[in-house]
Amino acid sequence: MSATHEDDDDDDTREVLLEARNVVVERGKKQLLRGVSLACRAGTVTGLLGPSGAGKSTFFRVLVGEDRDATGTVLLGGDDVSREPLHARARRGLGYMPQGPSVLWDLTVEDNLTTFLEIARGASDAGTVRDLLDRVRLTDARMTRAGLLSGGERRRLELARVLAGRPKVVVCDEPYAGVDPAQAAHLGDLLRGLADDGVAVLLADHHVEEALRICTHAALLLDGQVVTAGSPGDFRDHPVVRGRYLGTLATA
Ligand SMILES: Nc1ncnc2c1ncn2[C@@H]1O[C@H](COP(=O)(O)OP(=O)(O)O)[C@@H](O)[C@H]1O
Ligand SMILES: [Mg+2]
Repeated sequence: MSATHEDDDDDDTREVLLEARNVVVERGKKQLLRGVSLACRAGTVTGLLGPSGAGKSTFFRVLVGEDRDATGTVLLGGDDVSREPLHARARRGLGYMPQGPSVLWDLTVEDNLTTFLEIARGASDAGTVRDLLDRVRLTDARMTRAGLLSGGERRRLELARVLAGRPKVVVCDEPYAGVDPAQAAHLGDLLRGLADDGVAVLLADHHVEEALRICTHAALLLDGQVVTAGSPGDFRDHPVVRGRYLGTLATA
């Protein structure tokens, strides 16, 4: 990641799959993002942490192509995609789990996956649906309507939706929101497993401990700026992180 030292020798040889350079977002007179740069390499999990209102979701919307009024550059696999819409970036292998729900409430888990596969790949078949159910461990819930799932199950179905697109990069906005600790650990293991398979994973969350458990890199976003970026250990020890983020959580 930019503006950091590399903590792992292997990192230099891994391909940068997603990169943002100097992203600025203005709304009226307010600067929501004030020059954010970040790079995510294959096989890594980057946690973008920071308090509510720091600009994490705003930044993710720029990365995935939902907000194209930003200035700065977004690169996927080295190509400048700053002007490309969401679906074009998805075709290049960018998967996005938004902060809010993204399932089809009235359909069963299985029918959700069939639909997602048809959208992402133009076709679905029973074997691929079965594989996806197995990967996110929702086989037993396959006939359940998505609207009846627990928070953790719904997040895993949303992850399966992302996986239907065979992503090289996965951007997850608050994957643990509304998910109990045991299910969060389960979801975290799935995200870490994606990185172990070579995917670049970027996540934003408030659940610092669960996020840091699976992260290879962590960055603090405060008031629309990356304050520090490095290994999870460096992140915990950083005086600004301790003073302005972890300290406030401990007393919250
Ligand atoms: N259209 C907008 N106009 C003005 N302020 C906005 C707009 N959208 C979001 N904001 C503000 O931008 C800040 C960052 O929001 P967000 O990216 O959702 O933060 P986070 O995801 O880190 O909680 C918040 O203070 C929010 O109120
Ligand atoms: Mg947010």
